[in-house]
Amino acid sequence: MVATIKSAFKLPSGVELPNRLVKAAMTERLADVRNGVTDRLINLYKAWADGEIGLQITGNVQVDRRNLEAAGNVVIDAVPSNLQLDLLSRWADACHGRGGKVFMQLSHAGRQTPKMVNHTPDAPSAVAVNLPGGQFGQPKALTEDGIRRLIDQFGVATRVARQARFDGVQIHGAHGYLISQFLTPLVNQRTDRWGGSIEGRARFLIDVIKSAKAEAGPGFGVALKLNSADFQKGGFGPQDSVAVIGMLNGLDLDFLEISGGSYEQPKMVGLNGLEPSHVETLRPSTRVREAYFLDYAAEVRSVAKMPLMVTGGMRSVAAMNEALTADETDLIGLGRPLCIDADAPAKLLSGQADRLDKWEDSLRIGPGWLGPNSPIGVIKALNGFAMQSWYYSQIHAIADNQPVNRRLGLLSAFTKMNGLDLRMAKAYLKALE
Ligand SMILES: Cc1cc2nc3c(=O)[nH]c(=O)nc-3n(C[C@H](O)[C@H](O)[C@H](O)COP(=O)(O)O)c2cc1C
Repeated sequence: MVATIKSAFKLPSGVELPNRLVKAAMTERLADVRNGVTDRLINLYKAWADGEIGLQITGNVQVDRRNLEAAGNVVIDAVPSNLQLDLLSRWADACHGRGGKVFMQLSHAGRQTPKMVNHTPDAPSAVAVNLPGGQFGQPKALTEDGIRRLIDQFGVATRVARQARFDGVQIHGAHGYLISQFLTPLVNQRTDRWGGSIEGRARFLIDVIKSAKAEAGPGFGVALKLNSADFQKGGFGPQDSVAVIGMLNGLDLDFLEISGGSYEQPKMVGLNGLEPSHVETLRPSTRVREAYFLDYAAEVRSVAKMPLMVTGGMRSVAAMNEALTADETDLIGLGRPLCIDADAPAKLLSGQADRLDKWEDSLRIGPGWLGPNSPIGVIKALNGFAMQSWYYSQIHAIADNQPVNRRLGLLSAFTKMNGLDLRMAKAYLKALE
């Protein structure tokens, strides 16, 4: 039978999705000062569930309290109290209201931990993020014991997610966070068994997946988000990515989500970094697609034995259905459009709308030449972070049952969210004392 966005899909774990539309992970920064779940977070996911999305992947939940993507992240790094477990369960339950499912994204920010959270975060090697602005500290290389402890932490968090009635976890192996840092030779300069060849650099990822699988149990999914490439010269390229997918085939993953890039090269949202984007394709494509990584997914389809999900730039029902019908992907990941219309999936599924808002094209600081791909480094970097802030602001509006504000300026969003991040970081550090 030919699949469309409306088709149900059964994951290898047995988890059944009512349709093919998936909310991609988007960090919410709505945790409390001790990184616990809040009512606002639960409310946000209820709004997305009411929009009839088939599967929700939560924003990155961190497995180490000292290495966060932001102070407002939810953290699971130990057995939770009954109160925390209850809140986590309410979060999962909020996603189930209209028959949709939910996976918790598990992550460790590594060297992309902002300085306001930790000046000396953990990373595979002591290689700092190369961006202007001094937002990130000088990382220190993880010890063997540290690596083993983190592998266990991913297992602990998986166990907690299962107890809290989530349907699965997604390991975040993309976007320049810790697992992705292990994968790229630009950051992983280790000479022990965790570095070197692609087998060595992928060892951490593989052990993390095994640790999660050991805690998953029947009927509970373990998925992975992986970069097709980091688009940096000498970095993790498509050939590496294909080699890793080969290693993943025996691990019984529920699905593989394909994305790309890092803070240094924000390709996941279709932007370029400060360095020229290093593009190395498996086979040059002649087709121009609205989706950023669909060509790569189509290329790896025969290598990947698990279901595929493609995220990034998907906006029209025609393109989504074409990708599904051509069997290039099983699931369609959606991010930014859901920050301005939580009901968008229902509109696509009912035929009320045939495309999602491509609002990102109108988000620019200053005139066109100062846009996200401006030749001026600081503006370029600022544009990427400001665009993220703009979407966080809208996420917070949905969480508070407020209307989204499309007229919000990029700079205002950036200033507002930066101020909030700083206040949350101060409160978080105080709570750690
Ligand atoms: C505000 C915001 C937060 C994000 N947070 C995460 C995250 O926590 N984990 C992740 O894997 N990707 C994250 N992403 C990337 C999205 O999952 C997705 O890959 C990206 O937005 C491209 O999809 P889109 O074009 O449909 O927006 C984030 C994106 C945005 C806009």
